[in-house]
Amino acid sequence: MKKIILDCDPGMDDSVAIAMAVKSPALSLLAVTAVNGNYPVDVTSKNALKMLELLGRTDIPVARGMARPMVRQSPKDPFTHGVDGQAENFLPEPKTALSGLHAVDLIIETIRANPHEVSILCTAPMTNLAVAFIKAPEIIPLVERVVAISGMFGLNEYAFLNATGDSPQSEWNVFVDPEAADVVYRSGVPLTLIGLDVATHFCVNFSQAELTALEQSPRGEARFLRQAIRFVNSRGFEAYCTVIDCLALGYAIDPTLIETKPFHVGVETKDGLTLGMTVRDGRHHHIWSELPLVEVGVWADYDRFLKQLMSLILA
Ligand code: BDR
Ligand code: CA
Repeated sequence: MKKIILDCDPGMDDSVAIAMAVKSPALSLLAVTAVNGNYPVDVTSKNALKMLELLGRTDIPVARGMARPMVRQSPKDPFTHGVDGQAENFLPEPKTALSGLHAVDLIIETIRANPHEVSILCTAPMTNLAVAFIKAPEIIPLVERVVAISGMFGLNEYAFLNATGDSPQSEWNVFVDPEAADVVYRSGVPLTLIGLDVATHFCVNFSQAELTALEQSPRGEARFLRQAIRFVNSRGFEAYCTVIDCLALGYAIDPTLIETKPFHVGVETKDGLTLGMTVRDGRHHHIWSELPLVEVGVWADYDRFLKQLMSLILA
């Protein structure tokens, strides 16, 4: 089993990602760390607890993390995950307590206790990770890999069509805290970035039979996903919005689902039109080789991803 920490900001798709992490026999979820992002950290950490209670896994620690980006105010999300941050599923208030540790410290301690064994799946702004790497840089070489829903790399039309940050060419998780993304990208940690080119593809969709299966399932997490799809559809968005973060889980469970290629990439941290843009230097000549070299998702097997997702959620 692959040991993972899920660093997230639930968020409807983060919540479905928690369900995949808990239910996959290929993964061992050591901790959920919440951060400011889609909603303030009080909401995201509470939503993580709610989801784990729904799944009957209150043994997995949830820690509250950074309450704001490293150097900026938190922007307002142009997209909404509903008044509860969970697509208006209105899960019961959690009874479980948060971990006594700050998320940054839980990340540091978990990596120290499991050197070279833990992958961090980040489906949120990278504030918790950046602060952990600054506070305890010795953990960086001990991290197996960071797999993140992060950026957009101009690899196809979806990268720009479905830009989620509040600027023409940025992805939300980077846009919220570009300085944190810059720290993590440059940290030297083995890094796989699954950007919007892959994670907001319109091929991530559900057939009527799959929608019916979700609706009729006795599983709370299946009905959660069905309601999330209804919620985004009612606002004119496609179903893919409900499972963006799940691509990171899909990849962790089965790396053959997503093809990646190495690219030198950088993050724009200057204010203005391009704030939060992730730039991929794919030139043959004069390449800026000082930019960090990371793996970038270029294509996914969407049919297999949806099959994997459905079988986990319905199980
Ligand atoms: C990211 O934005 C958030 O709204 C989603 O949860 C996802 O992590 C995609 O850009
Ligand atoms: Ca998220």
